[in-house]
Amino acid sequence: MAILEELLDKKFQELEINESQKDILKFYLDFIKEKDYTTYSHSIRVGLLGAEVASFLDTNPNVFLYAGLLHDIGKLDIEDEVLKKKFGFNEEDYEKIKEHPVQSYNYIKHFNPFAAEVVLRHHRHQEIAYPEILPESMFQNSTKVLIAYYSRVLSLVDYYDALINRRNKDDRFKDANTKEKKKKILLENNPDQSTLINHLYEAGIFGNGIFNSLDRIKIEEDKRLCFPEIEGKNIMLAASLEPIYRPDMDLEDNKKTLEKFIAKSTSVSRAFVHLTKFLNKTKSPKGIYQYLYEAQLKNEMEKHDGEVSPSLLEFTLPLVAAHILYDPKSEKNPFLLFEKARELLKETSEQDVEWLIKMRQKANKIRGKEKYRFYFFPVNNVYDYYLKELAECDFEDISTIAYNRQFTEGFKDIRLAFRYFQRSNPEDFIKKVVRSYNAIFQRKNYKDKNLDYRLAADFITAGAYLHLSYKKEKVLISKK
Ligand SMILES: [Fe+2]
Ligand SMILES: [Fe+2]
Repeated sequence: MAILEELLDKKFQELEINESQKDILKFYLDFIKEKDYTTYSHSIRVGLLGAEVASFLDTNPNVFLYAGLLHDIGKLDIEDEVLKKKFGFNEEDYEKIKEHPVQSYNYIKHFNPFAAEVVLRHHRHQEIAYPEILPESMFQNSTKVLIAYYSRVLSLVDYYDALINRRNKDDRFKDANTKEKKKKILLENNPDQSTLINHLYEAGIFGNGIFNSLDRIKIEEDKRLCFPEIEGKNIMLAASLEPIYRPDMDLEDNKKTLEKFIAKSTSVSRAFVHLTKFLNKTKSPKGIYQYLYEAQLKNEMEKHDGEVSPSLLEFTLPLVAAHILYDPKSEKNPFLLFEKARELLKETSEQDVEWLIKMRQKANKIRGKEKYRFYFFPVNNVYDYYLKELAECDFEDISTIAYNRQFTEGFKDIRLAFRYFQRSNPEDFIKKVVRSYNAIFQRKNYKDKNLDYRLAADFITAGAYLHLSYKKEKVLISKK
C-alpha cells in the first residue's frame, strides 16, 4: 500500500496542498483505512485520478483531489456487516448504503463546502440515483452549475475505478475481463460522457492505471542450445508434471497433454542449466532473474501446445538458485533451503526486478493478455517487490496472497508439498499428489476460499523438483 501513499504525497506536493489541509485529509483517510481497507485504497485512487482528469479538463485539480479522497467517507457510518458484504444485499442494506453521500457531505462541509457539495452528488448520475432530496445549497445558481459538472466528472472517475479495480464482486462488471470490454461497459453506462471518455483513453489517463508501466521490450531471439544437466533435468521432470492440476485427473487419459508439457519443459530446462553455470561462476544471486526471462522465451519459442506456467518458473528459480549456492550436492537439511531461498531474494538487484517484470509481460503476451497492467515499484530487490505487490493486492484475493507469501514467508505451501513427496513411495505418486492437494486446501488460511487449483499445482510441482534433487533414486512415477 505504501506505493499509493507515496503517490498521494507526491500529488500533495505537486498541487501545493498546504499543511493544515493535508493534516485534515490524512486525519480522515486514517479513519477510512481503519474502517475498511478496500474503501481506503479506492478513495486514494479516485482522488489521484480525479486530479489528473481535472488537470486534463483545465479545471481545479485540488477540488477533485479533496472530493475524490473523501467522497465515500460517509461509509464510516455504515456498519461493517453491510459495508464488507460482497453479495446478497437486501433492501435494508441498500437504504443504509444510500445514506453515505449525505454523510460524506456532513463530514466535510465545514472544511471545504464546495467539495462537500460535489461529493453530495456523486451518486446522482447513475440509473438509481441518490440522494433524492438534497440539503439546501449554500451556493448561487451559477456555482451550482459548476458543482453539477464537477460531480458528474467525479462520478465517472468513481465508476471507472470500481470497474478497473473491483474484482469479481460486482455483477455489473463480471464480464469485464479485458481492457476493451471495460471501455465498452464504461461507455455504455455513461453515454452522456462518451466524448470525454474517449479523450481520456486517447490521452492515456484512462486505460493505463496510475502507475508507470514499463515500456515493452524488444525480444532477442536466443538460439543457444545445450543438453540439460542435472538441475535442468530435474526442472524438466518437475515441470512436465504440471498438467496434473486436479486430484481426479487420470494420467493415462492425459498422456498427450503430458507429452506436450514434457516437450515444453525440456526447452525451459535449458535456461536452468544456464543459471547453474552462471551461479557456479559468480556465486552471487545478483542477475539470476535474466534466466527466468530466458526460460519464458524458450517457453514461447518451442511451438508445442503445453506451456510451463510463469508462476512455476517464479517459484522454482529461487529454490534452484539456493540449491546451487547453498547445497549443490544435496547433502544438507533440505528444509533449510527454503529459508536460504528467501534470504537469497533479498540479495537480488534492481535489475532482477526488471527481468521479473519482463518475464511476466512475456508470459502475458503468450497468453494473449498483453494489455494487463504491470506495476513497477521502485524497489531494490525481488523480495521487496513481492512485499510491495502483496501490500497492493486486493485482500479478498486469496490466490495472489498465497502466491506472494511463498516468497515473503519462506515457501510455506511448497514446503508442505515437499514434505508429502519426501514421505512418499514412488508407487504412491498419484495418491501423494492427491494428499498434497488436500493438505494445501485444508490449510486454515485457504479453507472455504477459492484457492486456484493451478496455483496449488505449482506448489506441488516445485515440491517435486526438490524431491527429485534430494532423493537418491530420482524417480517420481514407478514403471508398471
Ligand atoms: Fe460512493
Ligand atoms: Fe466510491
